[in-house]
Amino acid sequence: MDFEPKILALCCHYCAYAAADLAGSMRAQYPPNVRVLRLPCTGKVDTEYIMKAFEAGVDGVIVAGCLEGGCHFQEGNLRAKKRVGLVRDLMDEIGLEKDRLEMFNLSSAMGQTFADIVVTMTDRIKKLGPNPLRREAAKVLEGISR
Ligand code: FES
Repeated sequence: MDFEPKILALCCHYCAYAAADLAGSMRAQYPPNVRVLRLPCTGKVDTEYIMKAFEAGVDGVIVAGCLEGGCHFQEGNLRAKKRVGLVRDLMDEIGLEKDRLEMFNLSSAMGQTFADIVVTMTDRIKKLGPNPLRREAAKVLEGISR
């Protein structure tokens, strides 16, 4: 059976979420693997949110905010960029492939770009395989049920 990754997209309300919405209105084709969570700004994305998502078993996380210089809360997307960089470094240290997480910047008019990002991340994560944290949890559960 083909592996179908679960991807969480943390999108800011003003640009990325609007772009996701536009992708839907445009009927842009993208895989159904993504679940979009709307935040007021990517500046709200905490490192803990991302790690909790991986602990809960998602296979990939997209953080999507406004274009640099276009954040409606001034520097929220720049703060998010730093945090995403920190989490990627941490992921490397704990053996969780950092390419499972990436930040993207887009305007509300970039519906096709949003669809392309989902295609890119889905393909990439299919190649990486399931989240190893989920595989470990499955092994533990298998051990308990014996
Ligand atoms: Fe979009 Fe801040 S409002 S990233």
